[in-house]
Amino acid sequence: MTFAALTGWGKCLPPAILSNEDLSTFLDTNDEWIVQRTGMKERRVSHVPGLMLSTVAAKRALACAGVKAEELDLILYGSCSFDEHVPNTASGLQVAIGAKNAAAMDVNTACTSFLYGMSTATAFIKSGAAKKVLVIGVEHISKFMDWQNRNVSVLFGDGAAAAVFEASDQEEGVIAERLHCFADARQSLRVRGKGASYANVGILYGDTRWDFDGQEIFKKAVTGMGEGSVEVLKKAGVTIDDVGVIVPHQANLRIIEAVVKRAGATMDKVHLTVAKYGNMSAATAPVALVEALEEGKVKPGSLVLIPAFGAGLTMSAHLIRWGGRTTPKEVSDAELPPCERSALDMVRELMALKEPHARSEAALMGARFVEAG
Ligand code: ACO
Repeated sequence: MTFAALTGWGKCLPPAILSNEDLSTFLDTNDEWIVQRTGMKERRVSHVPGLMLSTVAAKRALACAGVKAEELDLILYGSCSFDEHVPNTASGLQVAIGAKNAAAMDVNTACTSFLYGMSTATAFIKSGAAKKVLVIGVEHISKFMDWQNRNVSVLFGDGAAAAVFEASDQEEGVIAERLHCFADARQSLRVRGKGASYANVGILYGDTRWDFDGQEIFKKAVTGMGEGSVEVLKKAGVTIDDVGVIVPHQANLRIIEAVVKRAGATMDKVHLTVAKYGNMSAATAPVALVEALEEGKVKPGSLVLIPAFGAGLTMSAHLIRWGGRTTPKEVSDAELPPCERSALDMVRELMALKEPHARSEAALMGARFVEAG
């Protein structure tokens, strides 16, 4: 039987840090509220496009696996803030790393995109359709942020991570998974301003308004991630005590605490990044996984549990059996170009560019969708 081993991992965080104090210079918010309600202290703002973040992450993951880019059969590029839609961004990454023999596909399930990509990579490898697959989770969400809206703009940040999956005859990689979508709640998170519904109606591209029902998302996230975790453990015939480390999606510390409780675990088993990076959507879980590896929290042969959710509302839960290696084979020297500006300056510039104007506002809020009748 063929399995899909996770053999390479790498992350890339843009260096500019946006603190809670920075946010409170232009929003009616404060550090105490943000920390108490979300567990977040700071997040990153990228000075380069998502493709650059993912190129550095990909080069690091390939070096870690000891795999050359030409060996890749498939690239899965998970994001909801693509640099461009046509051509797809996966093809841009293919050129950037020189993966001349690969197929290239974008995946968008919002925050779970890397994880749906991981399931797809595993299925391709198990079916024999591919042997080596690169999966990316990346967001340049600061570009599409509704910065004036304190309900959402304090929650998100930019980042990227990548993983290499290879065919193996050892039982490793994803050993149980659950993918689902609470589509009846899809209207609870919508980024108005992205997509054909908003084309040719006078909207400045990048100007967005977020429909965001935080409490509804919170409840669905806890239920979905909690039940998904229990289900994958049952499928694999193991208990939570057999799990070495839990690496959840990190949208809110309180969501993580509730999920971990439902799964019957304690917080000392969880690798947390939420305070440092906030919610990086598709990049969140893979960045946390890479960090857990770098900090020695993933032991050879151990089980890693990854529950997640995203807009849609998509959910996922994966149980990974780790292989024998938890350190990189090689280390890449890939780096981002230096960043000359502060995160706050970059955000202020984005806000000035998006200065709301009446026509854009009316078109954004006037758009109607199938479920809105
Ligand atoms: N600073 C200060 N006050 C704020 C802020 C802020 N940044 N944001 C909201 N408030 C106010 C609200 O206006 C409200 O005021 P009111 O009582 O006068 O109306 C008050 O704080 C309480 O707001 P609640 O919504 O009740 O706060 P809650 O404790 O539910 O926390 C939060 C809000 C953090 C959004 C929470 O609901 C949550 O985490 N939801 C899920 C978020 C999430 O997962 N997002 C991403 C999902 S999908 C993806 O990952 C792509």
